[in-house]
Amino acid sequence: MTRRLEGTVALVTGASSGIGEATARALAAEGAAVALVARRTDRIESLARELSKNSGRALAITTDVTVEQQARDAVDRAARELGRLDIVINNAGVMLLGPIEGAPLEEWERMVHLNVLGVLYVAHAALPHLLRAAEQGPRHVSDIVNISSVAGRSARAGAGVYNLTKFGVGAFSESLRQEITRRHLRVALVEPGAVATELTEHLRPEILEQTKAMFADAESLHAEDIAETIAFIVTRPRRMAINEVLVRPTEQVR
Ligand SMILES: NC(=O)c1ccc[n+]([C@@H]2O[C@H](COP(=O)([O-])OP(=O)(O)OC[C@H]3O[C@@H](n4cnc5c(N)ncnc54)[C@H](OP(=O)(O)O)[C@@H]3O)[C@@H](O)[C@H]2O)c1
Repeated sequence: MTRRLEGTVALVTGASSGIGEATARALAAEGAAVALVARRTDRIESLARELSKNSGRALAITTDVTVEQQARDAVDRAARELGRLDIVINNAGVMLLGPIEGAPLEEWERMVHLNVLGVLYVAHAALPHLLRAAEQGPRHVSDIVNISSVAGRSARAGAGVYNLTKFGVGAFSESLRQEITRRHLRVALVEPGAVATELTEHLRPEILEQTKAMFADAESLHAEDIAETIAFIVTRPRRMAINEVLVRPTEQVR
């Protein structure tokens, strides 16, 4: 099988678990060299070893993307050490659900810092590299994929600030798309429904119980389902940009 990303360099945030980890594997399987960005060094180093053994180059870069300088350093280091930057998967995120009234402000701050500022810091640092790759790279096109959620399309009680952050990612992505698409930097927004990952592990116990009850009778997506979707998006021909994809488990109603 031809590996469709041979010779390209990708950076994935939140590559230490869930959707990010699966996406790093999927892009590496297509031949991309992959920079793995997250805070848990042991996880990304062991994934880097696995990917290097199987298919090529991978670089673990321990980073807290909510710290602007760290986000910038990670992007620049990936481009410097792997030679270029063609694809960025802006995936790291946290979901802390619960009613707005009386919510711990610390939870809101964590979501805004990671889901909004983290995404913006990575995008800001990556844009010059991605635009250069679109202009001079072998594919003459580059990709930024921002991970939003079903929660970025419809708000519901108990998800207010998570909704706010994901709606924001959607608005930013569309604005960015209009600004740079003529320069062949494609912007994609991926909006998953429920995916079985570590995302719910950060919920308060009582909220976790309610969330589990809500999805109890529906089969969740696997992280690999979203990874496959992302791999499809970034392997399209230069003329074709998939700008938005909503992927729900078949049984998820809302
Ligand atoms: N699972 C779902 O049902 C679902 C549905 C819709 C959308 N999403 C979105 O999908 C994305 C990935 O989530 P997931 O489901 O794969 O959950 P996950 O397994 O909890 O992954 C979250 C990732 O973000 C990283 N991360 C957290 N804080 C970070 C920081 N400050 N700096 C750098 N990396 C950080 C984590 O790594 P470290 O802890 O090692 O830093 C981890 O790799 C999120 O944006 C989420 O909102 C998920």
